[in-house]
Amino acid sequence: MRAALAALAWVALAGTVAPAAGGPAGGRVARLAADFGVRLFREAVGRRGGGNAVFSPHGAAAVLAALQLATAGPSRRQLEAAMGFGIDEPGVALELRRLRQALGGPGSRLAAAEGLFVARELPLAPGAVARFVQALGRPPAQVAFGQPQRARDVLNAWVQNHTHGSIRGFLPPGAAGPGTRLLLASAVGFGGSWLRPFPAAATRRRPFHRPDGSAAPAPMMEQTARLRHGEFVTPQGLEYDVAELPYGGGDVSMLVAAPARRHVPLAALAGALDGALVAAWAANMTRATRVLVLPRFSLETAWDLRAPLEAMGVRAVFQPAAADFSALCAEEPLFLAQALQKVRIQVNESGTEAAAATAAVVYSRMAPPEIRMDRPFLFLVRHNPTGTILFMGQVTDP
Ligand SMILES: *[C@@H]1O[C@H](CO)[C@@H](O)[C@H](O)[C@H]1NC(C)=O
Ligand SMILES: *[C@@H]1O[C@H](CO)[C@@H](O)[C@H](O)[C@H]1NC(C)=O
Ligand SMILES: *[C@@H]1O[C@H](CO)[C@@H](O)[C@H](O)[C@H]1NC(C)=O
Repeated sequence: MRAALAALAWVALAGTVAPAAGGPAGGRVARLAADFGVRLFREAVGRRGGGNAVFSPHGAAAVLAALQLATAGPSRRQLEAAMGFGIDEPGVALELRRLRQALGGPGSRLAAAEGLFVARELPLAPGAVARFVQALGRPPAQVAFGQPQRARDVLNAWVQNHTHGSIRGFLPPGAAGPGTRLLLASAVGFGGSWLRPFPAAATRRRPFHRPDGSAAPAPMMEQTARLRHGEFVTPQGLEYDVAELPYGGGDVSMLVAAPARRHVPLAALAGALDGALVAAWAANMTRATRVLVLPRFSLETAWDLRAPLEAMGVRAVFQPAAADFSALCAEEPLFLAQALQKVRIQVNESGTEAAAATAAVVYSRMAPPEIRMDRPFLFLVRHNPTGTILFMGQVTDP
């Protein structure tokens, strides 16, 4: 099944990618965050060399926006430049709060949460807690990272709780340890039933055409429906189709896009993706009756976001010597050690279950212990292979 799906590499949950323009939660920041997430996907998926993949643009944008709060100097400016907004700009924190509320409305099976965990002993910079409260509505939780196994259990339990149990063991052993000072996490969970389910009896094995020209049978669902659909062309002249499958409840839908002709590499389409394009699809599709054939699929992807973020100009924050986390802690030098994401999605006749966890793990650049010869010392100059001592002496008053 996984191999057969190689070409159906991506889908977008429209509710999380492009909130309806004009609504109070679909303003400039939501648009910029969606664009950042989509461009990060493009960078990240390009490095995997094809194949199935699932990513959470919202999860990545939420963690990187929170990371802005902890950083200063070039570390901060590079994050702002990559994301297109600064979390301190007037109105931004308010818009992010509205966005968070809009995503987790009562009764919704969409839940997005952010978690902030700081090392218990970390001396926080003045105002750091207030900034987190203002932007994220809550102070950081304190964790004893000195007990790595317990800390990992706490964080993994938080992720599991906030992803309807579908992401377990998110942080691998070693991802957080005694050197961890801050962990910013985002969890997104979604469960949706199609507004119009696919009739189970219509599913049958049919060929799925892989990018290498071969075909393999896959369980393909089918339904005839009036749905929103559009035919588009990339700037390079590649024609492709987009269809929208709404979930019940009306706020979330899945957009599915594929080149109009077989055996065209999906990269030709993925390379043109950005937030504006997804918004243009949503705006330009028209309703028509179509027979929609879509495979049933189930994917899980673990991402290391460091290289794609660096390619987008977010570099200083990863470099122990250059990173500036003085907005969080002025006393200890810190750097971003890892940016990780794990995502699962399952799509069948009834609907979709999906979950994502993203984390930025900030470590102390622990200065190596000093060995200071600031008192009288002996010295020897030795030829190691033979053990011959060529010179020796002592220094008592240099
Ligand atoms: C996870 O949920 C359980 C049950 O609701 C709760 O007891 C536990 O404290 C939660 N853990 C975290 C880390 O949120
Ligand atoms: C969407 O439609 C507008 C005008 O209606 C057009 O300018 C724009 O290019 C279209 N976008 C796409 C992606 O086709
Ligand atoms: C689809 O998957 C969900 C779990 O993700 C399951 O509860 C449901 O029964 C499945 N539907 C069909 C038609 O297989």
